Amino acid sequence: MATGTLDMQSIYRLLVVDDAKSQGSSLVDVDGNVYLDLFSHFALGCLGYNHPRLLAVARSDEFVRGSINPTSSPFCPASSWFDVLEGLKAYAPKGMQRIFCVDAGTEGIENALKAAFIVHGERRRVAAGGPANPLELPAEEQEAILANAGSDAVIVSFSGAFHGRTMGSLSCTHSKTIHKADIPAFRWPIAPFPANRFPLARYADENAAREAEALSALEQILDEYGPRVAGVLVEPVQSEGGDRHASAEFFRGVQALCKKAGCALILDEVQTGGGISGTMWTHEQFGLEHAPNLVVFGKKLQMGGFFATDDYTIRQFGRMYQTRNGDRARAMLALETLRVVEEEGLLAHVREVGAHFLAGLEALAERYPTILSEPRGKGFLLALDLPTTAQRDDFLKRALRRGVFATYTGSRSVRMRPHLILSRDEVDEALGVLDAVAREMAG
Ligand SMILES: Cc1ncc(COP(=O)(O)O)c(C=O)c1O
Repeated sequence: MATGTLDMQSIYRLLVVDDAKSQGSSLVDVDGNVYLDLFSHFALGCLGYNHPRLLAVARSDEFVRGSINPTSSPFCPASSWFDVLEGLKAYAPKGMQRIFCVDAGTEGIENALKAAFIVHGERRRVAAGGPANPLELPAEEQEAILANAGSDAVIVSFSGAFHGRTMGSLSCTHSKTIHKADIPAFRWPIAPFPANRFPLARYADENAAREAEALSALEQILDEYGPRVAGVLVEPVQSEGGDRHASAEFFRGVQALCKKAGCALILDEVQTGGGISGTMWTHEQFGLEHAPNLVVFGKKLQMGGFFATDDYTIRQFGRMYQTRNGDRARAMLALETLRVVEEEGLLAHVREVGAHFLAGLEALAERYPTILSEPRGKGFLLALDLPTTAQRDDFLKRALRRGVFATYTGSRSVRMRPHLILSRDEVDEALGVLDAVAREMAG
């Protein structure tokens, strides 16, 4: 593909996949070019192209029935829906056996925010001596609800975050102007996400000071908004916002502040869940004191949704409902994907090969300090920076011409989100290409 003057988005839109020929981590385009896929469609992909176990599920009668017989699962579910849900719960974060399924990541966020608001609203009413059930409120208060004046509750999100493109999610998204321009958003408070340096170990002291500042800013917001705060929403690694990592201590601090404020901790694992960090859920690496209240999934699970602790059970039917709460066919693929991740030991594989990949990126950053910096990663959530946006794009184009398809994030970061099956040999091949590109650019 001639990539010369095109920007990265145009290049990706011109790259049309031949998914009959693509296999494993090899993406073949319709012109017959073969790329090592370190992009996986913004982390949607998990087991590579045409995995035999997923093909077998997709060819099963059960899958065909699930695809052609749409059911409104909350009202009149098909029996296989319960089997799939039970199966998925085996992979739920510890202590979170409630599951709610929708179609996309942003819908998962939207509904997790609703769950946080509903539980918070009930608690607030009951604490003030009112009814838990909003339908028992006096008529004028019910009218106020219908006229959009029923609640002043807020969700706190972080600077640089990306949570999706529907209205609630977008109100918590602060990564790029283009996502939000001209769209009115809820004026909810925004806490600063720590601007850490990498490798995390080298900048530990500096980063600890930044994280302490960020936590203190969050605490101030929680104090200021007091009982209005229904939840704090945060990504375990800010992905679209530039692959920004914070330490386990930081996340423990956020949880402690949520506990003190009596609000929900809502983790957005849409991009970080499903094994890409080397654990099924990235927050497992944070040593949290107890389960978060709500964990949102998407991407690799082939549908959106959230897991919740029992205290975030929504009691009244109809408050959380969509015509199709969960697509059976997608859910079957999700379950088979997670089973393969477990049975083929892919979490350990991602940890081991991811550490090797990161060590390789660190070596490149040492070798080409004027071009590459800030190598960072957890498992296969990998990134590094270039000095400018133009240089980053140039780097990505050169890599693409040499057959390595990495992607961008933030203003000047290269992001890698390989399929979980990427082998050590393929990592070495990628590192060889990135080395050649950096050498070329360093002149
Ligand atoms: C962290 C995070 N949350 C939410 C979303 C939204 O997911 P979707 O695009 O499936 O709606 C994304 C998508 O990139 C994401 O990275």
